[in-house]
Formats: sequence, structure tokens, C-alpha cells
Amino acid sequence: MKPGIICFIIANFGVLKRNAFLGMMKRTKVKELLAAAPAGTDVMVKGWVRTKRDSKGIIFLAVNDGSTINNIQVVAEAAKFDTGLLKDINTGASVAVKGRLVESHGKGQRVEIQAAEIILYGKADPEVYPLQKKGHTLEFLREIAHLRFRTNTFGAVFRMRHAMAFAIHKYFNDKGFCYLHTPIITGSDCEGAGEMFHVTTLDLNNIPKNPAGGADFSKDFFAKETNLTVSGQLEGELGALALGEIYTFGPTFRAENSNTPRHLAEFWMIEPEMAFYDITDNMDLAEDFLKYLINYALENCRDDLDFLTSMYDKGLIDRLKFVLDNPFERITYTTAVKILEDAGRKWEFPVEWGRDLQAEHERYLVEVHYKRPVIITDYPKAIKAFYMKQNEDGKTVKAMDVLFPGIGEVIGGSQREEDYDKLLNRIRELGLKEKDFWWYLETRKFGTAPHSGFGLGFERLMLFMTGMSNIRDVIPFPRTPRNAEF
Ligand code: 4AD
Ligand code: MG
Repeated sequence: MKPGIICFIIANFGVLKRNAFLGMMKRTKVKELLAAAPAGTDVMVKGWVRTKRDSKGIIFLAVNDGSTINNIQVVAEAAKFDTGLLKDINTGASVAVKGRLVESHGKGQRVEIQAAEIILYGKADPEVYPLQKKGHTLEFLREIAHLRFRTNTFGAVFRMRHAMAFAIHKYFNDKGFCYLHTPIITGSDCEGAGEMFHVTTLDLNNIPKNPAGGADFSKDFFAKETNLTVSGQLEGELGALALGEIYTFGPTFRAENSNTPRHLAEFWMIEPEMAFYDITDNMDLAEDFLKYLINYALENCRDDLDFLTSMYDKGLIDRLKFVLDNPFERITYTTAVKILEDAGRKWEFPVEWGRDLQAEHERYLVEVHYKRPVIITDYPKAIKAFYMKQNEDGKTVKAMDVLFPGIGEVIGGSQREEDYDKLLNRIRELGLKEKDFWWYLETRKFGTAPHSGFGLGFERLMLFMTGMSNIRDVIPFPRTPRNAEF
């Protein structure tokens, strides 16, 4: 018999023994046990030990299985169990526990499990397991991102991230939008900012050269220069101009070297694109969409929100409710500049019509002046992307940025230029590669129509929803300059 087959038999014998040991009982999730299971029934949970306490021969285990922030308390009489087994069950160990669900005398929990049988799946040696009972800093937890899911904080954050992703799909599906998968590898630069990661299979130690001395991309995998997308918008527009209303929800990549608590090199973006919407329809959708998501979180993520509010941001739930209950302020860029000039403040970055607004300006408008979310429209065309619809004044475009308290820009969008000549002129003016956009331009040649869209940065949204202050803490595996661990 081959060694592999012997191993297989031994491994399966182990599984059989375990199942017999646990009486083939079905596992119940902790969330369900705490919420609904009646006291007096026999149950089985599986999860990871968060804490262990020994009090006069009674062992108390707090077990968590990720289904909720709350733990189930397991009570085991030490005398009934193997001493070695109990010694090995420490913080971080994974276990299956079978026993009777009884009403709890302990504070803050309805029920607990009186353990009859315990299986230890995997130990976590307290000498070396990095997550101990004491709180750890978020910075330290970033260094052990492979284990940080096991903390209350990251359990809450990533359950909420899931809930928001689900709510986003639900919102658009209920409205009749079509989820369109736009490519991750592209040949164009949507934002024209040149902040792209190259995609290549060329041998970097021996790059084939063209006659001009540059890299010969005709020898590359796609026979042209390609990169990771910075936005699915351009392809999204193609879909909207046939399917009517679409949205994308996927990863986007920006090689901008900004090491800030608001920027990632890989982030997720939600980009709805709608035919026959003007800029006002676009703003209305953005506001309705954000309020829907806030409401969804308040209704469906309450335990996690309560935890995050108590631990990180006392004002979190109140702020969510405030934003939900109040209309966003809508002003033009020109008005914004006027307010900032009149603020009587000394700005780190100068305020002057034509210059882009910086975080300090955005935060002043939102947090000090209006004290609510602000949508700024009609930015100077020189500081916005080529595809935005040009206003009659020849100076501004129908852009819109949605700014949130504590964060700044969460959404960037616009009405799109649907006029073929104006769009082509703008591409040429900006020195963009016209040939990269031939297919995009054709939508303006054939059946062009007014349309609009925007992009919501998913992690910026998650900062707002969770009250976390660093974007690295709302994405499972952050990619930032000089950091692509895990
Ligand atoms: O304002 P941006 O650059 O807009 C676009 O990409 C448009 N094509 C969207 C559209 O109209 N369909 O980016 C949109 C949003 C920003 O408002 C911000 O929330 C987020 O994406 N974002 C980032 N989030 C994290 N890290 C970064 N480096 C980000 N850059 C933009
Ligand atoms: Mg923007």
C-alpha cells in the first residue's frame, strides 16, 4: 500500500472517532444560540476560545465562532474532563463543545453551555500565540493581519464590510440596475493621472526594445501596453448606453505614492452609470444610495456598531443617524472657494479659484461650516478628468464630489460629455492617447445620450461606517507603498 493511502485511512479513522464522540450532533452557530435556542436543549458549538477562567474547579470558556461579536460561555467542571485536555485549551484554541444549554446566571448573557464533551481541534500555545487577552494596538495587529480576524475589532469590521457589500448589491438589484463586470486589465487610463501598475510578462532583466529605445510592447503578452485598471467607468459607460442602468463593484488599483490613512494602492470601488441621468439625478442617486447603506447598517449590524462605538468612536452611531436624517448640502466649487477665502483661517495649502481642494478645505466645509455632508459641483475643468461634461461657461465641468465628515471625499462622479467633438477636443487638449479611446468615442458617434455616474470608494465608506480611522483597518489585506504582505 502506498504511504499516501495509509495516511488517508488513519486521517479518516480520526474523523470517524470524533463524530462518534460527538454523537453526530449538528452544530449550531453562536449567533443562533444566543438569540433563539431554548434553554434545556442539547447543543453543539464549534469555535475558538477567546478567554479561559478557572474558578474553584469550574472552567469558564468564552467561545466565539465569528457569527457574532458575542461569545457563548461554556462551563466545564474540571473533575469531569481530562486534565491534559483542559490544560491545552487556552486563548486561541479551536474546540467543539457538546452540552446542555442552560439559563445563565452570569451578567450580559441569556444562556450558557454546561459542557458534557469537548474536543480540542487545535491548540494555541500561550507562550507564542500573539493574541492574548490584553488589548493590542491596531498597528501591531496590522503586522499580524493573518490573525487579526480573530479579534473583536476585526470580526466587527469585516462582518460589517460583508453586510455593506451585500446591501450595495441589494440596493442596485432592487432598483433594476445590472451588475456589469468590467475588466481589471486595461489598456487605457480612465482618470488620466498616469498612476497605473503595469501588467507585463516581458522579462524585466531583458526587455525587448523598439527602434526608439523604449520597451517593445508588441512582444508583450497582449501585444500592447497594459495596466491594472484605476476605474471601471469607461467600460461601465458602454454598458449603460445599452442596458440603461449598470453598476460595477470591483477592485481598482492606483500607484499613487500617498501614504495616508485614506489611500490604498488596491481598493474596491462601486461605480453606477446611468443613461438619461443629468447631474442632479446623479446627486439624488448618490445621496439616496449612501442613506440606504447607513440605514441598512443601523438595522442589521447593531451589535458590531455598538461595539465599535464603545471602543473606538463614541460619536459613531449618532453621526450615522445624523447623516441619515439630514439632507446633504449642495454647493458649487466657486461657492466653496468663497467660503474658504472668507473663513479667516490660515490654510496649509492655498485657496484660490482653479486650485484643487485639499483635505483640510473639505473637512472645514463639512465639519465646521455646514456640519453635514456636502456635495460640491462644477469644478474647474482643468483639475478634473477629460470625460466630464463641459458647462456653458467654458471653464467648469459637471463634476460632483461627495464629502463626508471625518473622511473627506467618499464619492467622485459627474455627468459625462456626450458630444463627440467636445470629447475628442478634450482628449487632444490633454494630450491623451486618442487611439486608446477609439471604442469609447464611438459611443458618442452612435446613439449618444446624456448620462452620468459616480464612484464610491468602498473602504472610504467603511471608514465612515465603522468609525475606524485608518483605511488599512477596513480592508482585510491592505496594499500600500512598500507593503504587500500576506
Ligand atoms: O474620484 P475618483 O478618482 O473617481 C473615479 O475614479 C471615477 N472614474 C468614478 C466614476 O465616476 N465612475 O475615485 C472615486 C472614489 C473616491 O471618491 C474615493 O472614495 C475612492 O474612489 N478612492 C480611493 N480610495 C482609496 N484609496 C485610493 N487611493 C483612492 N482613490 C480614490
Ligand atoms: Mg475624486
